Amino acid sequence: MIQPFLAVEAGGAAVPITILIVALAGFALAYFVVGPGKRKGPKRYGDIPLAMRPYHSDEELETSGMERAMAWGVALAVFASLFLPLYWLIEPDRINRAVDGFYEQDVATGRAEYQNACASCHGVNLEGGSAPHPDPDIDAPWPAPALDNIVARYQDTEVVEDVREFIKLTLVHGRPGTPMQAFGVANDGPYSDNQLDQMIAYILSVQTGEVPEAQAFVGELAEGEDLGRVLYDNNCARCHAADYTGGVGPQLINVFERYGWSEGDEGSLEQARAVVREVLHNGRNLPGNAPMPAFDQTLTDEDIETLIDHLEGIQEEGGPQAAQIGGDPGPPEDDDPSATEE
Ligand code: HEC
Ligand code: HEC
Repeated sequence: MIQPFLAVEAGGAAVPITILIVALAGFALAYFVVGPGKRKGPKRYGDIPLAMRPYHSDEELETSGMERAMAWGVALAVFASLFLPLYWLIEPDRINRAVDGFYEQDVATGRAEYQNACASCHGVNLEGGSAPHPDPDIDAPWPAPALDNIVARYQDTEVVEDVREFIKLTLVHGRPGTPMQAFGVANDGPYSDNQLDQMIAYILSVQTGEVPEAQAFVGELAEGEDLGRVLYDNNCARCHAADYTGGVGPQLINVFERYGWSEGDEGSLEQARAVVREVLHNGRNLPGNAPMPAFDQTLTDEDIETLIDHLEGIQEEGGPQAAQIGGDPGPPEDDDPSATEE
């Protein structure tokens, strides 16, 4: 009982230590008033060995002896009745302070680890940045999302139930096929579970809650360039490949068909477009697949419609993965097996 008292920092220990000192002083007082020191002892009996000395008389046992014992009982009862409620009052506060202390330590360590391992891509202040494309032939950098608003970005999506868990999974496994490598020891990364938790504590401690408004495409379209194609190149090609054949994400050549579209059937076309729209707005995170990011915060509604039109334009019937027509597309079974390992 004493050890945890002493374990906390000086401020937190002051009260329990005071109780302890008062209790010890009370015991000392009781000892001198009613304790064994008061017994008429050794001197009366000279050399008679302890075990052979006559004990108190019956009369003494029934009066002063009994009173002594009862006084001890009262003293202990009073002590317990004061100490236990006080302990009960103080303990939660002490525990909370200890928890806060650990949390602050975690955040400080996490901040240092973040600066070492993540800041080069995600920004010194978690504002986001970019990384070189893993394919050396492609010049366009791969955007690394801002992490100071990750909670706000995912809180309204159904794609991610628990942002902390989502960050943890991303760190442990990385995103195969993207510049985001695995950082957990489970996948040969350099960081233990505990260190990852510290980084996450830091990331969650500096959330701004601000998500920038989606910006419509503002660049200049070159002669003959198609806005849908430009949006696709800027936002989608890095995962679905410039020729739509897939990579990190599944191929998109017959994605409409996979969602039930058949040539000439207006209803099924609308249905397929609605599924794609839903994926683009909210992203998707089927278990076992890499997540598809949500685009409702990066692309305006019009841009998303333009992209859907663009995808509609490139659909081919009976393209790759024709086996999945009409059913759940399931994990992409394309030529990049790492895409499904998440
Ligand atoms: C080499 C650059 C690089 C480094 C270093 C890096 N990341 Fe990433 N990270 C990325 C990229 C790029 C993505 C986006 C991947 C994608 O497009 O799906 C990403 C994605 C993420 C995501 C998911 C974000 C989202 O909105 O879905 C989290 C969380 C994350 N990184 C955390 C970290 C942490 C923490 C570290 C440090 C341990 C780190 N990253 C180190 C490049 C990097
Ligand atoms: C960081 C990589 C990444 C980017 C960028 C990305 N996607 Fe995806 N996309 C995926 C992954 C991974 C999946 C599969 C997700 C799942 O099933 O959980 C997917 C799924 C999809 C699907 C559903 C396909 C199916 O068969 O069910 C569509 C449609 C889609 N993406 C379109 C797009 C478009 C359009 C863009 C650009 C605005 C885009 N994606 C950008 C990775 C990405």
